[in-house]
Amino acid sequence: MSYLKTRSIFAAIVLAFASPLLAGDDPRHERHELMEGVGDAAKPIGQMLKGEREFDADVVMASLETFDKAAAQFGELFPPGSETGEDTEAAPAIWEDRAGFEKALATWSDAVDAAIAANPQTVEETKSVAGPIFNACKACHDDYRIEDE
Ligand code: HEC
Repeated sequence: MSYLKTRSIFAAIVLAFASPLLAGDDPRHERHELMEGVGDAAKPIGQMLKGEREFDADVVMASLETFDKAAAQFGELFPPGSETGEDTEAAPAIWEDRAGFEKALATWSDAVDAAIAANPQTVEETKSVAGPIFNACKACHDDYRIEDE
């Protein structure tokens, strides 16, 4: 290994430790992955409501639990210094109006809790508890997410 290469690797390591956003647990990556998981969990519910997939109460519950876990972690993944970069889709409004963001998160979390408590066993029951959840997704995205598409 050349001296120069060794030096640049060393510099990169020092930089990584000096940065408050350590590679590997960068909150911009974590929140991106968390939301990707939420998106994946939303898909089967959407398909069941549209009649494109056979209803399965266990799959619905697994998705609701994914939402629940995400809702518990999501609010902590927006520390100062993570406003931009890494293709984040987080809108500046999250930092400018943290109370509003927390409220949008709580609305979502409450709808998820209510759905879990209702333990839906039919498409109809799922439809009535999923409505408020998906409305809360959209409401938060409208105000606090910048969509690339
Ligand atoms: C409290 C706010 C909030 C709620 C509620 C919310 N999201 Fe998000 N979502 C965001 C933000 C902010 C981002 C952008 C995150 C980033 O890039 O840092 C995002 C990003 C996403 C993404 C893109 C992930 C990627 O590839 O970057 C998907 C998919 C997504 N959300 C789906 C959902 C679905 C489905 C729901 C409801 C079941 C939901 N979200 C609820 C705020 C929210």
